[in-house]
Amino acid sequence: MAAANKERTFIAIKPDGVQRGLVGEIIKRFEQKGFKLVAMKFMQASKDHLKQHYIDLKDRPFYSGLVDYMNSGPVVAMVWEGLNAVKTGRVMLGETNPADSKPGTIRGDFCIQVGRNICHGSDSVESAKKEIALWFKDEELVDVKNCAYEWVYEN
Ligand code: RTP
Ligand code: MG
Repeated sequence: MAAANKERTFIAIKPDGVQRGLVGEIIKRFEQKGFKLVAMKFMQASKDHLKQHYIDLKDRPFYSGLVDYMNSGPVVAMVWEGLNAVKTGRVMLGETNPADSKPGTIRGDFCIQVGRNICHGSDSVESAKKEIALWFKDEELVDVKNCAYEWVYEN
């Protein structure tokens, strides 16, 4: 298996995505694309955990509101694996502001405002590694061969 095909990204369904019944729809898109689910949990993250998750944004005016929003209900935290999972994952989510997101993307299809944009995706391989380590223990990452692998990748 080519190492590049094992790139991992951290994807989360935010509290609004959960409340609006979009969990299945968002998971479905990653499954149908051909990415492999490596880990998943349903949890209400603490404010400290969320502050850490968004630490790069700590000086932005929306930081504290963002932490409150993310803490306002449970989220679905996931790790998805595949070729260019980070970049393609972001394309599938759409732009940060749903108003700029194209139809066919998750944010383009299901939300309107930047402060209620229903999903999160790592923005680089480096931040994916940090986020996966923050949200999951090593033993929670499940490495099982996907029976469709040879039908998704030519090498
Ligand atoms: P995310 O981390 O959630 O995947 O979103 P992103 O990379 O597309 O955008 P980022 O700059 O990391 O912002 C994180 C989240 O903060 C909220 N936000 N609000 N009020 C605002 O101007 C504003 N800007 C960003 C959004 O929920 C965004 O997803
Ligand atoms: Mg971000």
